[in-house]
Amino acid sequence: MSQQVDHASKTSSDVVPLRGRSVVTLDDIPMTQILDLLDRAAYIDTHRRQVAHTCDGRVLATLFYEPSTRTRLSFETAMLRLGGQVIGFAGAQLASVSKGESISDTLKTVSNYADIVAIRHPKEGAALVASQAATVPVINAGDGGHMHPTQTLTDLATIRARKGRLNHLTIGLCGDLTFGRTVHSLITTLCRLGHVDFVLISPDELRTPEYVLERIRSSADCTYRETGDLNGVIGDLDVLYMTRVQQERFFNEDDYLRLRDTYILDADKLRAARPDMAILHPLPRVNEIAVEVDHDPRAAYFQQVRNGMLVRMALESALLGDELPGYREQKEV
Ligand code: CP
Repeated sequence: MSQQVDHASKTSSDVVPLRGRSVVTLDDIPMTQILDLLDRAAYIDTHRRQVAHTCDGRVLATLFYEPSTRTRLSFETAMLRLGGQVIGFAGAQLASVSKGESISDTLKTVSNYADIVAIRHPKEGAALVASQAATVPVINAGDGGHMHPTQTLTDLATIRARKGRLNHLTIGLCGDLTFGRTVHSLITTLCRLGHVDFVLISPDELRTPEYVLERIRSSADCTYRETGDLNGVIGDLDVLYMTRVQQERFFNEDDYLRLRDTYILDADKLRAARPDMAILHPLPRVNEIAVEVDHDPRAAYFQQVRNGMLVRMALESALLGDELPGYREQKEV
């Protein structure tokens, strides 16, 4: 990961510790703290051996009531690579929720077993409920169509690594902008970072929710335009963030089938894009990026996957108050 950034990089003495708090959204975390997490992730990437015992003796619980590959496994490998251990479940049918247990009771229970919890749940607001019941830090690993804050850290780390900055960018977000929680988290966080021109590319049925548009309108420096035409705007973009049409959040299968292949990014479409445009996708993909694009140097989505592990290592250690050996000293040089 590149450590280049155009924002004033604060010294560690300016950064309020995250120790002991939950992360349901990034909205209530100061931007200096978010940038510090990105710096920590970059440090971890180049100091893997030094940080390997940072969380010795700690236990992470992953409570995944919804399918996941990247988020759950990256949370888990993050804790293992910091020296800690992992418990949890993937699939609520295997846990006592299948017997009718509430989220609150589950979190009150798991707080006795783990030092930190990551929870994914299909209902918006579930992570907030979990954080209010738990006595240990809770991280939102995705709550319905609402927010996915650690994916946003992943996306920011990748944009910063590719573009060297997080503002003065034209960023296209394409696909399911209604149900794509990663889109909502990313836009609302970028709005706090300075000038970004958003190009919101979707079919009419999958446009960006009004509360997200309102966040852009109320930011001092950001603009947006909405379009259905990816080909017409691709040449303007510094970053193209593709998303999957979220089948699991559709009520009507016919609508899903009609909309799922609206946008398919392939080598032909990329001919009109800038040579340094970064292509991101939170994954999993279905058809929206042709496999041939994986070989294009502009494809950043597997780098994004790796950054997901690094930012979760940064976040877990910060919430636990476990100092990364050598990080503070390097930051103050
Ligand atoms: N990006 C993301 O949330 O992937 P998973 O659903 O595999 O966790």
